[in-house]
Amino acid sequence: MSAANDMAEMPVQLPRDPASAAQARSRYFNSGNAFNIKLPPVPGHIFMDEPAKAMKSEVTGFINCDQSDRMQCAFPATTPLMLARYAVVKAGETLDTMLPNTASIWYVIKGGADLTVGGEKATLGKADVFLLPGGVPSSISAREDSVFWAVGNDPQLRFDASAPATGAEAAVQFVHYPADEIVHQLDVVYSRNANDSTSGHALIFSAEKTEAARNITPTMTLSLNTLKPQSEQPPHKHNSAAITLVVAGDPAYSMVADQKCDWSAWATLVTPPAAKHSHHNDGNTRAEFLIVQDGGLYYHARTMGFEFY
Ligand SMILES: [Fe+2]
Repeated sequence: MSAANDMAEMPVQLPRDPASAAQARSRYFNSGNAFNIKLPPVPGHIFMDEPAKAMKSEVTGFINCDQSDRMQCAFPATTPLMLARYAVVKAGETLDTMLPNTASIWYVIKGGADLTVGGEKATLGKADVFLLPGGVPSSISAREDSVFWAVGNDPQLRFDASAPATGAEAAVQFVHYPADEIVHQLDVVYSRNANDSTSGHALIFSAEKTEAARNITPTMTLSLNTLKPQSEQPPHKHNSAAITLVVAGDPAYSMVADQKCDWSAWATLVTPPAAKHSHHNDGNTRAEFLIVQDGGLYYHARTMGFEFY
């Protein structure tokens, strides 16, 4: 058969004589040409310029870790379904934090601030974690120059043009995890031994509303992973993408698809879906890293594909 006759080479098929606008909007492809679009892979990357800019704290606003161009994605994205960003709030200024996502997971890198979420308020300090529901007005007012890291599922909602439910139907509620409570809860985990089926001591964040699934949001997971001095997490893979904030590690590095990524302060590391990866602590102090994954989606779809090598 000549290439000219190959159905994979055919253009889109249009309706012959549509009788309505709705019929005119129909299109047809075939089993040869519908599934041969090749999207570029999710790049493994470590964002270092963005945290450096955020730590200078020159302007109140967001600094996205955006690699949408490299993924041929039409909207800002760090991975196809998640967007990580740093937020800067200058002393005495306020940042609107209502974002177009189901939820965003936040970490306080430095500073002190007051947070308002709907009718609730919280005082934020360094190393606090908090969960913001999308679609609910929220803002951060800084008492001193403050820097935050936040990951949301904005690209997931942009992909199918959906919007977060609010009120009783909301997927998540505002949740605050103060730094001293996180330290205590991690100590509780450290009081037990890790077993061979776990990958080191990690604290997994959940919430009242998502407790049954043991997630922090229906689609995203948050883990504070640690590595004891001179230890490593063995190589493994999973179909969820991971976005990791380097919290402490001196020195430490990750291997992502056989590429060495040296950690630097407050860098954001992207682990592509299904990429072999491992984390290594060469230092004499505990390494800590916060990992957000779109793992809830894959657990729900029964497609997590977790494997050690
Ligand atoms: Fe992993």
